[in-house]
Amino acid sequence: MARKFYLTTPIYYVNDTPHIGHTYTTVVADVIARFRRMTGQDVYFLTGTDEHGQKIELAARAKGMAPIALANQVVERFRSLWTTLGISNDDFIRTTEERHRRGVEKLYQKIQAKGDIYKDAYKGWYCTSCESFYPESQIVDGRCPDQGHKVDWTEEESYFFRLSKYQEPLLRLYKEHPDFVFPETRRNEVVAFVQAGLKDLSISRSSFSWGIPLPGDPKHVLYVWFDALSNYMTALGYGSDRKLYSRFWPADLHLVGKDILRFHAVYWPAFLLSADEALPKRVVAHGWWLRDSAKISKSRGGVVDPLPLIEAFGVDALRYFLLREMVFGQDANYSDEAFIERVNTDLANDLGNLISRTLKMIEDYCGGKVPRTDPRFRGDEPLKTAARDAWAAYVKDFEGLDFSSGLSRVSDYVGALNRFIVQNEPWKLAQDAGRRWALDSVLYTVAEGLRIVAILLAPVIPRSAGEIWKRLGLTGDVTASSLEHFRWGELKPGRVIARGESLFPRIDKAAYLRDATAAKEPGMDPQKPAPTAPSQPPDPDPAAPAPAAPALAAAGAAEVGIDEFARIELRTAKVLAAEKVEGADKLLKLTVDVGDGTRTIVAGIATRYAPEALVGKTIIVVANLKPAKLRGIVSQGMLLAASDATGTPYILTTEEPVPGGWRVK
Ligand code: MSP
Repeated sequence: MARKFYLTTPIYYVNDTPHIGHTYTTVVADVIARFRRMTGQDVYFLTGTDEHGQKIELAARAKGMAPIALANQVVERFRSLWTTLGISNDDFIRTTEERHRRGVEKLYQKIQAKGDIYKDAYKGWYCTSCESFYPESQIVDGRCPDQGHKVDWTEEESYFFRLSKYQEPLLRLYKEHPDFVFPETRRNEVVAFVQAGLKDLSISRSSFSWGIPLPGDPKHVLYVWFDALSNYMTALGYGSDRKLYSRFWPADLHLVGKDILRFHAVYWPAFLLSADEALPKRVVAHGWWLRDSAKISKSRGGVVDPLPLIEAFGVDALRYFLLREMVFGQDANYSDEAFIERVNTDLANDLGNLISRTLKMIEDYCGGKVPRTDPRFRGDEPLKTAARDAWAAYVKDFEGLDFSSGLSRVSDYVGALNRFIVQNEPWKLAQDAGRRWALDSVLYTVAEGLRIVAILLAPVIPRSAGEIWKRLGLTGDVTASSLEHFRWGELKPGRVIARGESLFPRIDKAAYLRDATAAKEPGMDPQKPAPTAPSQPPDPDPAAPAPAAPALAAAGAAEVGIDEFARIELRTAKVLAAEKVEGADKLLKLTVDVGDGTRTIVAGIATRYAPEALVGKTIIVVANLKPAKLRGIVSQGMLLAASDATGTPYILTTEEPVPGGWRVK
């Protein structure tokens, strides 16, 4: 019997459309689920939405909607994003469902029967954003200690849960199961929090009504965290049909962001201890995606919407970036630059080129069929060993949730395959009929190596891995492959390969960043952010050495050679006229003389420059930039400006009175 593995994500609040933080949690959970299935486990993977509570009630009121109408609207955004991202959840629970209410009531009644509930008055601070109570001592300048949200003074009748009674049992739990909270730094925080003393927890609210009525006192609704945490059991039929519940409970892994660890590692096991239900095996907390060092969230801003990224670069580019870029457990800064560099280096350059050059050579030299290794060939031994080692290290990393490291093993192996091609020079072997056997062996080795790569990447980028699989002439689904046993040589000679289009087109970073910046202008109508047609790499020359990963310069941008820089044509330009662009607060339309005639340039500098102040100035422009349409005006270049931390532009001019049209280098 396969070992069961029950895995959950937090359920997401429906006051907000999903951003990259929510996306990260769900994609990580999906990768774990897929990885575990490929290691032969019987996985049950749950996600859903948290639809009750004051925060949702207020958000709905602000929109003039009923809370359920808001929930119905927002839940579809989550569902459809998860479908787009290929999330393989087995169920999706909404806390407004009947099956959930029944289970919550049952859990509450068991706790009540235990004598762990009493009625009192709550007086204190409440953070609606966190849906959390805080003691006076933790409030700093009227804000909550966890995330700095504004808190409100609240006085209301409330039922309390005897959390204090569970301080010792919880400390015992952390001690006897050191793995219960992961990573260790987070575990230490949880232990310290509980050691500092637990106060009883207000478990009902009576000042608003959007929630599950308290059994026995419907003037109250259950505290939204009690309601929400119960989803992990109610989705399995707790309180109604016990079949799934007895098969999958307790959860093997609750995946959460570090912001909500306390609810999962302190309150949740305390409720379960009280109700005599089995405890989850592990609560695992990941870090935050930050922007300018602050958590990305609706309330703080800086939100990164996954949809334009998916539209521009594809689902797998986003999935890969999220898993590869963030060291699990730590925080990471999001930037478009880092995204593009990661995808270009690992997927477009290294893996993409490996795939296209391998398939092209099999097509050109082997009639499009997987060749056969000759027993005389010994050169494949190091590659076999490297594949076996990469596989074992990857499995260990993924079991330990170190996805970034696991993926770097795959990249290293892709690098080894690229070097193997260069060292063996198949294009030279192809000139010599007497060495046909060596040519076939080299190409077989690389194709088999690619098969291994496809399997290892399948949990993270299932669609692209499936495409590699298909192109190698393999049938069936790559995600049905087993990660349990490494086997070399399963690719059968004679299979017909399919070369296909470039799987990971290279992203034109400059064009994307320019268009993305323009798109942020309010009310602008930019051309689509360089989506599906980023300049594709020319078909790689099989004779060329494997492309090297761009080294990172100190400032964080990739280094460029002087030749690359010379492709950018910078010129001086004299401003002849300037005017505001109607309907766009930040834009000016400039008419400039660039030596060989006049041009129109649209620039986002109106927040700092009046049009008349610019006329007569000599500025610097990128003269060979592809024209782009902004607010219906075709901009034929871009001016250079420095910008400070707030993004305010300071245009670059010449110190001497230089005419328009001079080259700048
Ligand atoms: N509804 C509660 C969870 C109840 S679970 C019983 C909740 N919802 S949430 O929508 O606000 O956030 C859910 C999760 O989204 C966070 O725990 C975290 O996993 C993820 N993230 C939200 N913002 C994030 C970042 N900026 N970075 C990474 N993940 C973050 O809390």
